[in-house]
Amino acid sequence: MMEERSLANNCSFAGLKPIMVDLPYPPVKVRGVNRDYADLLKVDYCGSVSELSAITQYINNETRLSCNHCPMAKTLLGIGMAEMMHLQKLGELIVLLGGDVDFSARSRSGRPVMWTPDYLAIPDNTKKMLMADIDAEAGAIRQYEMHMGMIKDDCVDAVLSRIILDEEYHIMLLKILMQDL
Ligand SMILES: [Fe+2]
Repeated sequence: MMEERSLANNCSFAGLKPIMVDLPYPPVKVRGVNRDYADLLKVDYCGSVSELSAITQYINNETRLSCNHCPMAKTLLGIGMAEMMHLQKLGELIVLLGGDVDFSARSRSGRPVMWTPDYLAIPDNTKKMLMADIDAEAGAIRQYEMHMGMIKDDCVDAVLSRIILDEEYHIMLLKILMQDL
């Protein structure tokens, strides 16, 4: 019997879990409705430097790598899954603060701007890809720290500082992947 010709991607993601620090998340709660705080979190949710940008950048990385670099693709997807959980936490906080999760974030001028893939850095060169991911993680940490300085709600800030722990862990893992190249 003639074997049918095919091109296959045999990288299996079965059982893959979000890659994050093994510490609990603070409860999702806020001290009160605050639209200004919701607007800040919307930037973290879906602005240029945001969880939505991170998720889409990692899934793009994973797709480029999975045929030939399956272990690295799995790590990047696991990291992306953690970013998806961050997106979920931020979204829940935005709703509690009285905001709307409509995938728009206010620009510096105050105008709402829809998220766009123009925000992503998605080179096909593996080293450049990992460097772009490290840059994005570092940018996210800086933005969270800036927003924590502006948000006077200890419940919200507790979630942001827990997210930062995961982002720092991701930078460490990405640096290890770079060393293996
Ligand atoms: Fe991250």
